[in-house]
Amino acid sequence: MVRVDTDGNERAGKGPFRVTLGVSAGISIYKACDLVRRLKERGCEVRVVMTGHAAQMVAPVTFQALSGNAVITDLFTGAGEPSIAHIELAKWEDLLLVAPATANVLGKFARGIADDFLSTHYLATTAPVLLAPAMNGNMWRHPAVRENLKILEERGHVFLQPGRGSLACGDVDEGRLPEPVAIAEEALLLLSKAGDLSGMEVLVTAGPTREALDPVRFLSNRSSGKMGYAVAREALRRGAQVTLISGPTSLEPPRGSRLVPVTTAAEMEAAVAQHFPACQVLVMAAAVADYRAAQILPDKRKKAKGGWTLALEPTADILSNIRGLKKKGQFVCGFAAETEEVKANARKKLEDKGLDLIAANDVSAEGVGFDSDRNALILLWPGGAEERVPETTKAACSRALWDAISEALHGA
Ligand code: CTP
Repeated sequence: MVRVDTDGNERAGKGPFRVTLGVSAGISIYKACDLVRRLKERGCEVRVVMTGHAAQMVAPVTFQALSGNAVITDLFTGAGEPSIAHIELAKWEDLLLVAPATANVLGKFARGIADDFLSTHYLATTAPVLLAPAMNGNMWRHPAVRENLKILEERGHVFLQPGRGSLACGDVDEGRLPEPVAIAEEALLLLSKAGDLSGMEVLVTAGPTREALDPVRFLSNRSSGKMGYAVAREALRRGAQVTLISGPTSLEPPRGSRLVPVTTAAEMEAAVAQHFPACQVLVMAAAVADYRAAQILPDKRKKAKGGWTLALEPTADILSNIRGLKKKGQFVCGFAAETEEVKANARKKLEDKGLDLIAANDVSAEGVGFDSDRNALILLWPGGAEERVPETTKAACSRALWDAISEALHGA
């Protein structure tokens, strides 16, 4: 049955958005009942999968009545051929949303343990995944949970940050499931954005560069590459083909990206020059060294009395040089790492380098920027427009950045 779309939320002529709602056993499960209604109000078709424990907390028939579809509770009672129902569902859905997502479900998803319908289905799906964790505050902060969240985030899944407030255990802490309307809105946002970069060639640079002094020493900077990798991951999630030119980092390249590893600023410049002509969007998130040793010693410099005075020479400015190669329709976004006069300095870089957008960040601010999982950005456009992205995860910063770029591209 094709449902009437009450809110105009359609998959480009293919009918209403199809959401699989995975429900695991958290006390906030009662909110999942309302979430089904909120999704349906927004024109989504919803199928519910419950874990065994969840089905002991709320009878599946409740979700069946709310969703209008049979509820799947285990591997062998699903609709369709029992052995392939998890695959059928994967082909059907546009989004896998899990709310509440318990620590157990996050752990199984992160490690690929497939011992019930929901965790088996997770491995079978290629749809975007939105997770709304809810648990006790100590559980939420436990290193095991943090590690699993990191794995899932690096895999490109999106999280809703649990809220702070009174929890089922009586504590006032972090760990509450967000309100159903907020979850439904986030789901719709993801569904409408999924594929908005489809078919687009995107080039992202990330990480620091290293400039050798001798065979064992180098000059570099504190960039971890996390921001650029998050930008690449988000572009992939939205359907782009992504080439990631990366300086040395300890990060896993996002699945599906074409990684071009480089070490020096000169190597990064050559790689950008090679890949730029084929891309529609370049996001230059790398922290490129501005200076290199005028002379690289062929052997390790021996310790000697007194100091060591280095002669440095400038490296090429990659973005400024790309300016001459830029064709109509190509979009170039830079980053500005600043410690003072953030906006004024970033705006000057936007103009001097002829950029379409610059994302400024204050790298001296506590808890954000270099090597952190969090960041805060100011997006500056030619002509004076600006948009603030308040402190959040680098994944969420990347979503805001691509929202802005996508709007500019599609509006153009
Ligand atoms: N960038 C570049 N080539 C360089 C240095 C920087 O393409 N040799 C790019 C960065 O990737 C970033 C932007 O230029 O997108 C701004 O980099 P940033 O380090 O903030 O500024 P710089 O131009 O190096 O200027 P300064 O160090 O004086 O702030």
